[in-house]
Amino acid sequence: MIRVLFVSSEFAPLSKTGGLADVAAALPKALRGLGVDCRVLVPGYPAILAASSNWRQIATVAPLAALPAARILEGRLGDVPALAVECEPLYERGGDAYSDGCGREWPDNALRFALLSRAAAALGSGVRPTTWRADVVHCNDWQTGLTPAYLHFGNGPRAATVFTVHNIAYQGNIHRDLVAALGLPPSCFDMHGVEFHGQLSFLKAGIYYSDHITTVSATHAAEIQTEALGHGLHGLLHARRHRLTGIVNGIDTVVWNPAKDPHIAQRYTTWSLRRKRINKAQLQRQLGLGVESDVPLFGMVGRLVPQKGVDLILDVLAELCGLPVQLVVLGAGEQEIEVALQTAATRAPRRIAVTIGFDEGLAHRIQAGADFFLMPSRYEPCGLSQMYSQRYGTPPIVHATGGLADTVTHCTPEMLSAGTATGFQFQSFERNCVLDAIATASSTYRNRRTYRSLQQNGMRCDFGWQSGARAYCKIYEGLHMQMAAWQRNDERMA
Ligand code: ADP
Ligand code: GLC
Repeated sequence: MIRVLFVSSEFAPLSKTGGLADVAAALPKALRGLGVDCRVLVPGYPAILAASSNWRQIATVAPLAALPAARILEGRLGDVPALAVECEPLYERGGDAYSDGCGREWPDNALRFALLSRAAAALGSGVRPTTWRADVVHCNDWQTGLTPAYLHFGNGPRAATVFTVHNIAYQGNIHRDLVAALGLPPSCFDMHGVEFHGQLSFLKAGIYYSDHITTVSATHAAEIQTEALGHGLHGLLHARRHRLTGIVNGIDTVVWNPAKDPHIAQRYTTWSLRRKRINKAQLQRQLGLGVESDVPLFGMVGRLVPQKGVDLILDVLAELCGLPVQLVVLGAGEQEIEVALQTAATRAPRRIAVTIGFDEGLAHRIQAGADFFLMPSRYEPCGLSQMYSQRYGTPPIVHATGGLADTVTHCTPEMLSAGTATGFQFQSFERNCVLDAIATASSTYRNRRTYRSLQQNGMRCDFGWQSGARAYCKIYEGLHMQMAAWQRNDERMA
């Protein structure tokens, strides 16, 4: 049985700012279902430690340069065996995983996530501190980027490493002076190493030193090799393209299931879709919108950052207000976007409702209550919300980029008659294009048969983790065999 350590800075629902948390909770579960001995490694945030009373210490990680000592605790998070890195001064504080909750990032994030990376490397190294040693360490995003570097510079046999890029725009770039403080050899500060425009880059370290790289959709795997969407790392990614695979995310079909969702007023299935309107009325009432069943309600849930393209919607608000539509937004992020949205809602309180903050229950209620889900992202590595919306019979309207292009089937007469159309894509990130898509969606809404087909087609899609988990398994197995062959070779040479 192959042993995989899945390392993540977030884990849903305990510590979540976005989709990484959902993936970290769902993919390991699916991998275990396929017979992989997958365990999750997360920082010991207060919510993680409080989630179980059965954490027990199984190892320690010695201090290294400026990195303090830590304890590795073993326990369970939901259905998955988990390990937590316990280090009170670095992880036990308020706010979210990365910031104080008021938009200020923790100034010691480099140290916090270097420690997570170091603990992961320890669990995958030959000088393991525990009886369980990972064959493969699966790292996710910049917060775990130093793991492959620590393993590369360590001694003795080591686990293979997979590094998944969920969001290439977040890179963990810090001052070069920190190389020594993080226990890395000076030689790694090189173009062929962790150096990136004169800084130390956690993300580049992950991409450079890992044995295999993945990102979260096939389209995005191609996009990040281009200057337009590679955020400066396209050259390296292109050079390593034979080691780069796009695997589209799945969703947790238990957590996101309109037939059993505890967060929503009225549960429903493809056969009882009429009941969805009860969720719409409830949502309209709860948010102070006009309770009008015939007016299409557009929902948005997401981080309020430029990536998500909310500014494009703000740009077309005047036109939108001229159409018979309603808009519901839930999100938190950049203050400027939050204020602009709130101002719009104050001007048209019966048409636009904005909730600033993070609210898991409301996210589910919007998916269940809205008639369409808007996701006009500038770029989107995968995106989970558009898959949730299809499962909830809420056709998405998306910019045709990354995983949005891969998971939403545009409504054309051909796709409708084939029974595969699930939503609307617009090709260019431009105001006219999004407006056209919204206008087309609104007129489709009035054509009950077509609208119902879109809903049912989306609900019947299989967005589960089965096929994604199988694709990761294949990569793990290939790497594991390769590492074993290298090791046999090393032993022969010794
Ligand atoms: P990203 O990871 O880029 O944020 P995804 O679509 O992959 O985008 O995942 C976003 C996840 O975060 C979804 O589960 C979505 O419901 C959730 N989410 C985002 N913002 C909020 C919020 N303000 N309140 C509740 N859930 C949110
Ligand atoms: C990122 C991406 C998003 C993706 C998520 C999980 O935050 O922005 O597109 O779905 O990670 O992989």
